[in-house]
Amino acid sequence: MAPLRVVAAAALSLLGIASAQELDSETVSPYDKWLRERYPDRWIDMPIDHFHNDTTYEPHSNDTFRLRYWFEPAYYKPGGPVILLQGGETSGVDRLPLLHKGIAAMLAEATGGVGVVFEHRYYGKSIPTEDFSTENLRFLSTDQALADMAYFAKHVEFEGLPNLTAPDTAYIAFGGSYAGALVAFVRKLYPDVYWGAISSSGVTAAIWDYWEYFEAARLFAPKECVLLTQTLTHFIDTILISKSSTDLPRRLKSMFGLGNLSNDADFASTLTGGISQLQYTNWDPSINSTEFGHYCANLTSPTLIHPNLASLHPEAQSLLAAAGHPTALTTSLLNYIGYVNATAVSGCNTTIPGRTQDSCFAASNPDVHARPDTAQTWRLWTYQYCTEWGYLATGAGVPSTQLPLVSRLITLDHQSIVCREAFNVSAPPNVDAINKHGGFGISYPRLAIVDGERDPWKPATPHRLGLAERKSTVDEPFILIEGGVHHWDENGVLEGERGPGMPPGSVVAAQEAEVEFVKAWMEEWKTERGRHGDL
Ligand SMILES: *[C@@H]1O[C@H](CO)[C@@H](O)[C@H](O)[C@H]1NC(C)=O
Ligand SMILES: *[C@@H]1O[C@H](CO)[C@@H](O)[C@H](O)[C@H]1NC(C)=O
Ligand SMILES: *[C@@H]1O[C@H](CO)[C@@H](O)[C@H](O)[C@H]1NC(C)=O
Ligand SMILES: *[C@@H]1O[C@H](CO)[C@@H](O)[C@H](O)[C@H]1NC(C)=O
Ligand SMILES: *[C@@H]1O[C@H](CO)[C@@H](O)[C@H](O)[C@H]1NC(C)=O
Ligand SMILES: *[C@@H]1O[C@H](CO)[C@@H](O)[C@H](O)[C@H]1NC(C)=O
Ligand SMILES: *[C@@H]1O[C@H](CO)[C@@H](O)[C@H](O)[C@H]1NC(C)=O
Ligand SMILES: *[C@@H]1O[C@H](CO)[C@@H](O)[C@H](O)[C@H]1NC(C)=O
Ligand SMILES: *[C@@H]1O[C@H](CO)[C@@H](O)[C@H](O)[C@H]1NC(C)=O
Repeated sequence: MAPLRVVAAAALSLLGIASAQELDSETVSPYDKWLRERYPDRWIDMPIDHFHNDTTYEPHSNDTFRLRYWFEPAYYKPGGPVILLQGGETSGVDRLPLLHKGIAAMLAEATGGVGVVFEHRYYGKSIPTEDFSTENLRFLSTDQALADMAYFAKHVEFEGLPNLTAPDTAYIAFGGSYAGALVAFVRKLYPDVYWGAISSSGVTAAIWDYWEYFEAARLFAPKECVLLTQTLTHFIDTILISKSSTDLPRRLKSMFGLGNLSNDADFASTLTGGISQLQYTNWDPSINSTEFGHYCANLTSPTLIHPNLASLHPEAQSLLAAAGHPTALTTSLLNYIGYVNATAVSGCNTTIPGRTQDSCFAASNPDVHARPDTAQTWRLWTYQYCTEWGYLATGAGVPSTQLPLVSRLITLDHQSIVCREAFNVSAPPNVDAINKHGGFGISYPRLAIVDGERDPWKPATPHRLGLAERKSTVDEPFILIEGGVHHWDENGVLEGERGPGMPPGSVVAAQEAEVEFVKAWMEEWKTERGRHGDL
């Protein structure tokens, strides 16, 4: 998983992968190829505009678009449910392993159900408009995406299977992260269509200033790595903020090899790539990102890792002293510079005509931001967070009683430059459009809330620290995966891939609980719908 441009890493994508890509055959692994053959693309005609009564969507559209999905019929038994996995803000292709060996497969097998991966409108190949201009993105809203899920359940025709539409078939939705919030809302808004839902790391509360993104790293990363990140950030802020009228900021940026970056907040943002990687860690080594570990290993190394930086030693010492910091930090600072060089600076090849450090790293990028074509898939989640979800990961929002892990120069104003440039959106997002569904307090019968103890997104879920304890029941399961990060219950491994601690006990327990309560929900379904009892 290649990290996106590090600017606003957290807010750019909940996923962190260059989203909505259709992998070309050069880069597709044999397993991915096999998945594509086993699960051919399926399509349903979907109304572009479900809400002709709502002026937000004017001018309205009466057209339909082709929305893509995939299904696994192998486990189906008459009377079984449809287990619908909402793909969220990426190409649904990325979710196909979940149909084969992840949670969709587990739940379908346990219940005699049909597993489905559902591609979110505008992502992958489910594109309703000719381009992603701001006007054409007006149909990219949470409400429309939820209505798609309801429409699908009422109209789908699975090739080779009997009529499995709602409400005569039970629909159980699963989603992780943004998709986790969607499935929680769909259960509440369309209770007659969706019989149950599992919201995994579901960010049910939209938050404009999401400085808490870095709280998981502060609380759970190795102590020394946290302390050094805080101390070096404090050093950098001392120079950029308290000494802004001196020559020190220029010298600092040059030392990082970023002397041509005009804006200090852009410089500060370019340093945040490493600490932003915690969410991409996973218990399965084949999808784990080791980048967070590399970052901490660089920072905490007692010796200089990057020998060609030795010549910067006097300058590093001099700047530390000028900012009133102990020169004992010199090696850590040089290793930090080396890390930023290896993962960011060196990736910006300024010998290419037209390429400058500003064009690589600045939040403002009017030329790129003006492009509306459908190759600009970065516009999609960006539009969603600019208009409804927020989640701008700032340093400025951190309470003054604690040291931030990213610079205080990273403000809401800076993180929302793209909203103004790309979409002419200068107002804060309409978080009420999301939070009206219950936010942290969302609860509903047969709605399960599953989160990860160490997930950077936990503060946007009902497991946020400081909320009243909830009792977990079969009807409203409430599960925190100990040691877990971002929707760790979603992926799975085949029997032969299992090993000691693989998956970890807390993940196995969560997945087993999910199987058990979904089975119980299906018993309830059969009781309530007597006619299904004898199927
Ligand atoms: C539009 O209609 C839907 C139901 O069809 C309703 O839930 C919604 O509140 C209406 N919206 C407006 C803006 O009137
Ligand atoms: C959509 O259909 C309705 C009813 O047939 C019609 O009144 C309206 O003008 C149509 N809108 C568009 C944009 O075609
Ligand atoms: C499937 O069943 C529903 C409800 O019984 C019905 O309205 C719909 O027309 C059926 N679909 C097909 C393709 O037969
Ligand atoms: C920085 O800017 C100068 C002057 O425009 C240019 O010569 C140099 O190549 C640039 N360096 C980098 C790394 O962008
Ligand atoms: C995943 O990567 C992290 C470092 O980012 C490392 O600490 C962890 O051991 C790795 N986990 C697995 C299962 O490979
Ligand atoms: C430092 O970070 C780089 C970039 O991620 C990585 O390749 C390298 O292995 C790290 N070095 C150490 C000693 O961890
Ligand atoms: C920065 O990284 C590049 C690519 O890894 C390397 O060639 C270069 O020497 C590094 N620069 C410094 C100053 O270490
Ligand atoms: C940088 O770009 C130039 C011009 O396109 C190219 O010749 C060179 O190989 C590139 N350098 C790297 C390290 O990719
Ligand atoms: C940007 O939005 C403002 C108010 O929201 C509007 O007055 C202005 O015309 C818009 N500009 C463009 C280029 O769309």
